[in-house]
Amino acid sequence: HKILVLHGPNLNLLGTRQPEIYGHETLDDINNRLYEKAAVNGWDIVCRQSNHEGELIDAIQEARMNGTDLIVINPAAYSHTSVAILDALNAFEGKVVEVHLSNIHKRETFRHHSYVAMRADGVIAGLGSHGYLVALDSLS
Ligand code: DQA
Repeated sequence: HKILVLHGPNLNLLGTRQPEIYGHETLDDINNRLYEKAAVNGWDIVCRQSNHEGELIDAIQEARMNGTDLIVINPAAYSHTSVAILDALNAFEGKVVEVHLSNIHKRETFRHHSYVAMRADGVIAGLGSHGYLVALDSLS
């Protein structure tokens, strides 16, 4: 399998950003666990983060062309606003799993709706960083 993990805006701040909501692990800690799990299973994985909507879209378009069969995406705040990311994912033919560290449904109402969820094959919210590992389990 070939996997793209995409982290959206502000997730580069993990570890110091509202740790009571998002936990104490850094993005590198999370990615290292994903790289380890992929190595054990013989999967090809790339983890990327961007604060820019267009860069996330470029990465999705690349995945569409390079044989990626799973995108795990935490679109962060763009979940709630981005028709453009939804459109990019709609043009991708593989599997899509959306991950949120926090349970967006028990937070502010503006976080309850996700455009990306309209395309995602699965949505995981509220399991913290463990959610990313669960997303990879969707392959086995
Ligand atoms: C988030 C939830 C979003 O509402 C928020 O904007 C984020 C992170 C999460 O992982 O819980 O930046 O996607």
